[in-house]
Amino acid sequence: MEAPNGDPGQQVPGDGIAAYDLPKRIATYDADMDIMHPNRDHMLRVAVGLLPFPREQDFLALDLGVGTGCFSQLVLEVFPNARIIAIDGAASMLEIAAVRLDAFQGRVEFRTGDFRDLEAVIAPSERGKLVISSFALHHLDRNEKVEAVARCTSFLEPGGWFLNADLVRSDSPILRNRYQELRVQGIMQRAEDSDPRFRTSEQTHSFLEAMEAREGDQPLAAAEDLEILQVAGLKQTGIAWMEHREAVMAGTRHPALAGNPSGGGGL
Ligand SMILES: C[S@@+](CC[C@H](N)C(=O)[O-])C[C@H]1O[C@@H](n2cnc3c(N)ncnc32)[C@H](O)[C@@H]1O
Repeated sequence: MEAPNGDPGQQVPGDGIAAYDLPKRIATYDADMDIMHPNRDHMLRVAVGLLPFPREQDFLALDLGVGTGCFSQLVLEVFPNARIIAIDGAASMLEIAAVRLDAFQGRVEFRTGDFRDLEAVIAPSERGKLVISSFALHHLDRNEKVEAVARCTSFLEPGGWFLNADLVRSDSPILRNRYQELRVQGIMQRAEDSDPRFRTSEQTHSFLEAMEAREGDQPLAAAEDLEILQVAGLKQTGIAWMEHREAVMAGTRHPALAGNPSGGGGL
């Protein structure tokens, strides 16, 4: 995604991992997310609210791009017997996540790894009921995303769920421009003059453009992302929430509804 301040000159251009592996830069990551993505918390709650699992269920989950740990934290709080393998390419982010998730010791295992090579991070024998990801998969191109989601599908047990809260891109240039205008206005309001990056509309536009280029952001249209979930083998796919350039998508590993004829909250 889209993060923080820091010196752009220190980064590898267009690299979604290197951009987050700078301790100085990620120090304000969560505060910046509140300014730039105020829907994040709501999106994560919408996603977790979809899960039909009983609260006491003991299951293993993967978090792709755990970052500072917000999505994992919510799952661990809502499901007290859940365990998570938390994956990220940036060791600096994992250090922050380890502090945030300290209270859940024994239930989280941190692994440094690249979504583009999940075979190296997840053993073939490892299986679980849930894969979560937030604001991370838009760093991959289409083929990389298909491969990563396909690996997640094979991690999932039948009836397991895949939940992704991420950026999407409108196909319409008019809507894209309008979303960007509204986004810039919102960021400036929330930053309230106190942040030199966001004092004027021009500064805010340039900051966002430079950041997205540095981080190699490549969000796809929501329809393309849904198709990727299907190509990667997920069933019952859908968009659970969407606003402007952010969406929550879900899919399940077939047979999603087996043994649960009442529906039980399934998609
Ligand atoms: C914007 S942050 C999102 C973090 C967190 N999930 C959240 O919602 O705030 C994106 C994360 O994905 C990680 N990331 C980006 N590309 C990656 C890749 N190819 N492999 C592993 N991690 C990657 C970054 O290091 C960063 O921690």
